[in-house]
Amino acid sequence: MRKKPDTRIKPSEITPEGAFLNRRALLKAAVAAGLVPGIMSASEAATIPAGGEFDPKPTKWPGSVTDKPNSLEDISTYNNYYEFGAAKGDPAANAHTLKTKPWSIQVSGEAAKTGTFTLEDILAPHALEERVYRLRCVEAWSMVIPWVGFPLADLLKRFEPTSQAKFVQFLTLADRNQMPGIRYPILEWPYREGLTIEEATHPLTLVVVGVYGKVLPNQNGAPIRIVVPWKYGFKSAKSIVRIHFTDKRPLTSWNMSAPQEYGFYSNVNPKVDHPRWSQASERKLGGGLLAGRAPTLMFNGYADQVASLYTGLDLAKNF
Ligand code: MTE
Repeated sequence: MRKKPDTRIKPSEITPEGAFLNRRALLKAAVAAGLVPGIMSASEAATIPAGGEFDPKPTKWPGSVTDKPNSLEDISTYNNYYEFGAAKGDPAANAHTLKTKPWSIQVSGEAAKTGTFTLEDILAPHALEERVYRLRCVEAWSMVIPWVGFPLADLLKRFEPTSQAKFVQFLTLADRNQMPGIRYPILEWPYREGLTIEEATHPLTLVVVGVYGKVLPNQNGAPIRIVVPWKYGFKSAKSIVRIHFTDKRPLTSWNMSAPQEYGFYSNVNPKVDHPRWSQASERKLGGGLLAGRAPTLMFNGYADQVASLYTGLDLAKNF
């Protein structure tokens, strides 16, 4: 069954299609929807470009890692996106069937501004940055990826979460017609992930819409995903259709499927092994035989920025 259009959408939340490439109009629509704090000029606003390249170009974020990024080919042909199959090459082979336009995101739960928002409204007031982050997969391989996006904190605050919003859950598209992997019960669909509100609003947590200066390939989670660089890759949900604010720790797909293997936190931690393999080191993908292995760093190298989020927490128990 195709995803049905949400009939509850308010007219003020709809961006006319003709305005797609007109940032000024997009910004006006977002203001009308009450979503824009009004601090950005129209020329800074983000849109999903028709031709693939962002205009204006994303600015370079000064905190990027200096390791050489993996090639776009590595990044877009070795993927985990189980809705398109469980083998690493399956998402690149199958994700062309994902329909990324039109796209909307439902916002629900503990927030003053809930409802359904078009992708254009979501992106309108945000300026895009290129941030090169390490990605460490729970399967003990890693890549270095130049993402294009903006801090999730900037998006979440527009929905005015209440004091009860202790966690944020992300639910992603689950459509049998577009996603051949959905017919297999490998995971609980829709794929879902969650973060504490402190993690979700940490300045390193990104809303991602592109890679290498262009829109995301479908297999990397188009049109919109998150990236949490100090956690194992599975915490970074792809192709998000719902953001839910809640006072309770939300259910997450990998934890539901194997709670002894995948905890809620899933912070990169070389000292806590996966029950079936060591997490002490990682295989660096790309560069053939020369790439080799490297010791895994606590919080994937972001300890200075994020360790304080976990003060007093036993990270072996809360893995
Ligand atoms: N999101 C969805 N919807 N479905 C998935 O199967 N896999 C996760 C995460 N997000 C996954 C997902 C896992 S296991 C990893 S390692 C990262 O996406 C991989 O992101 P990448 O393919 O862009 O490197």
